[in-house]
Amino acid sequence: MRKRIGILTSGGDCPGLNCVIRAVVSHATLTYDWEILGIPYATQGLVERQAIALNMHGWDLRGIDPLLNMGGTILGTINKGNTLTHVDEILASYEALALDALIAIGGDGSLSIINQLANRGNWNLVAIPKTIDNDVAMTERAIGFDTAVNTIVDALNRLTFTAASHDRVMIVEVMGRTAGHLALHAGIAGGADVILIPEVNYTIKGLCQHIAELRDRWKRKFAIVVVAEGAKLCMEDMCNTTDTTSPIPTSSPKCGIGQYVAERIALLNDDMIDTRVSVLGHIQRGGIPSALDRLTATVFGKAAVDLVAQGQFGKMLAWQYGEVVPVPISEAVAQSPLHVDPQGYLIQSARSLGIYVGE
Ligand code: F6P
Repeated sequence: MRKRIGILTSGGDCPGLNCVIRAVVSHATLTYDWEILGIPYATQGLVERQAIALNMHGWDLRGIDPLLNMGGTILGTINKGNTLTHVDEILASYEALALDALIAIGGDGSLSIINQLANRGNWNLVAIPKTIDNDVAMTERAIGFDTAVNTIVDALNRLTFTAASHDRVMIVEVMGRTAGHLALHAGIAGGADVILIPEVNYTIKGLCQHIAELRDRWKRKFAIVVVAEGAKLCMEDMCNTTDTTSPIPTSSPKCGIGQYVAERIALLNDDMIDTRVSVLGHIQRGGIPSALDRLTATVFGKAAVDLVAQGQFGKMLAWQYGEVVPVPISEAVAQSPLHVDPQGYLIQSARSLGIYVGE
């Protein structure tokens, strides 16, 4: 009998989601002749029992396929919801829609919720990792990360020239609530002088010494500081906090971290350093997906359909050592969020360039 597969996007949006939908619909249609139902707004769509039939040519505009390079998600998504209070409706919806399987594209938080629902409802679930934070465990790549890194690098290129023209210290706050992958990758690729991430302690004294050295030894009168939104208080201020149990400091400043770092730099230098703060915010989540994200989305989408065909459920597609492999969703979400390794090769590479990364 012809299979009917549901697909949904959950958690924060990112570039490349529409590419996955495109790959899933194409492969399911051309290879297996299955029916694909798009569930709008993730679990919210299941609560409301909504579904949209997706077909390969339904979105053609004069032969152009907009899903290839369109950011966001045509299905809509939610990253907050009252899922837990609607479990019965959601479970009944999977049955009512007569789904043979569900392909869920999400980050660690939303995949964890959908996996719990799948376990309770005995669903046939296949997951695909997406997040600009790249903090889903067991996979080297999540959809959206590469585009976001390129967006930040583009911003750093622009900010470098204006910083140099005014001899300023530019503080650039990027996303990454719990993990510093975005800041670290983009900071290295974009020529940052300082990178602050949640996983590594830093001092304002050390940061300012580095800026002074750039000026005095290398005659560099400007500096670029990339700070992840989840970076914590500097060690000088951490000393006043009581939580000594966590290897990762837990205290956050009251204002945004970028503003906080700028104020601390100004304070330590008697306002002699001219600072400016740029918060990149949701610009990092938008935009046209990069070639790498399109490629990753395509192979993950195709592999997800093949897993359904093979009856391999409870699996998340992962990118490991150049291969796409299925891993248990429950293991991936249990090990997430994946943090930057403070001793890892990227931190070492940053230090080898003279970038101040703390400790
Ligand atoms: O989880 C991805 C992420 O981009 C975080 O880095 C960021 O803190 C968060 O989403 C913001 O999400 P929203 O504003 O959509 O709630």
